[in-house]
Amino acid sequence: MKEFKILAVIIALVGITYYGIEPYAHSVMHPEVAAADFTFKDVKNVDTSLAGNAENGKVLVEANCIACHAIESASHPQMMPNADAAAAYGVTPPDLSHAGRIYDKNYLANFIFDPVSAMHLQHKFGPDTGKTFPMPSYNWMTPQEIMDVVAYLQSIAPKVAEGKEGHKVTFEAACGRCHSMKYAGIEATTPTENLKTYMGATPPDLSQHIKSRGEHYLHSFINDPQVLLHGTAMPRVGLTEEAQEEVITYMEEIGDSKKAERETVGLWVMLYSVVFALFAFLWKRKIWEEVH
Ligand code: HEC
Ligand code: HEC
Repeated sequence: MKEFKILAVIIALVGITYYGIEPYAHSVMHPEVAAADFTFKDVKNVDTSLAGNAENGKVLVEANCIACHAIESASHPQMMPNADAAAAYGVTPPDLSHAGRIYDKNYLANFIFDPVSAMHLQHKFGPDTGKTFPMPSYNWMTPQEIMDVVAYLQSIAPKVAEGKEGHKVTFEAACGRCHSMKYAGIEATTPTENLKTYMGATPPDLSQHIKSRGEHYLHSFINDPQVLLHGTAMPRVGLTEEAQEEVITYMEEIGDSKKAERETVGLWVMLYSVVFALFAFLWKRKIWEEVH
């Protein structure tokens, strides 16, 4: 009978910790924020239901974008070395080979129409800040023309390898102009000096952020940095949920490569405890049998 009382106390204590204290601590450490929104419907200057014409998009991209952006997958090399491009624009414009795959269609169309509002950077580049964003707004294009550009970018985006190699490509395309990842040998394409001037804050090396921030935080943060770090210089990048998952997985593959191993070891430890508890119980019964 005594044993049952002890068991009841243990169950009660574990229950209070698990259902009371743990969720409370969690809510303090991860304050409730709006769920990540991968529809990017908050900026809607462009009717993204229009079907784009990739052939016309090609003409528009060649006339408007390749002066600043390389597009290796369509054989448009970079016009100037990274350092010169960074000096000219503040940050090295990214290669657009993967843009059609990694960016959400709504986001991409609205970004081309008005980069500052799509990136949620009005506090840095809005009309009353006196600063102009380095990429022009293509708000003179018709919605049809913008969707043509999007269709073209989608048509030239190459398929990438499954696994770590592919995740790396996505990371470099989406984050590589600002962030280094030294543990993977990745150096930001924009020199640090230019980044400091352009961003007003130095984008951190991301080798260990999967550990220091955790997956949960990154899931919301990357989707819209302003929600968790109000006023931050980091733009909303506009990745699809799939591309964002690839980036986070890559951060994990580099910064926490032992995770899978740790989790399997955890299962063995639990199994060991169960077997151990069983033997302890049988042993106890045997001893007390002799006493009584
Ligand atoms: C005058 C140079 C310039 C031109 C022309 C230009 N861009 Fe950009 N673009 C930039 C720079 C600089 C950035 C990076 C800005 C930043 O990260 O703050 C950028 C970023 C981008 C991004 C990344 C967006 C994101 O969310 O990370 C895309 C996509 C893009 N440009 C598409 C285009 C397309 C399509 C065109 C042509 C219609 C174009 N750009 C024309 C300079 C330019
Ligand atoms: C145009 C430059 C730029 C791009 C592109 C960019 N970032 Fe950042 N990022 C920054 C800057 C600047 C900071 C520092 C922000 C601050 O201190 O306010 C930052 C901070 C961060 C942080 C730290 C947040 C924290 O809580 O301290 C993480 C994580 C991060 N970025 C992830 C990413 C990922 C992942 C990508 C690609 C999907 C990306 N960033 C793309 C500029 C950028």
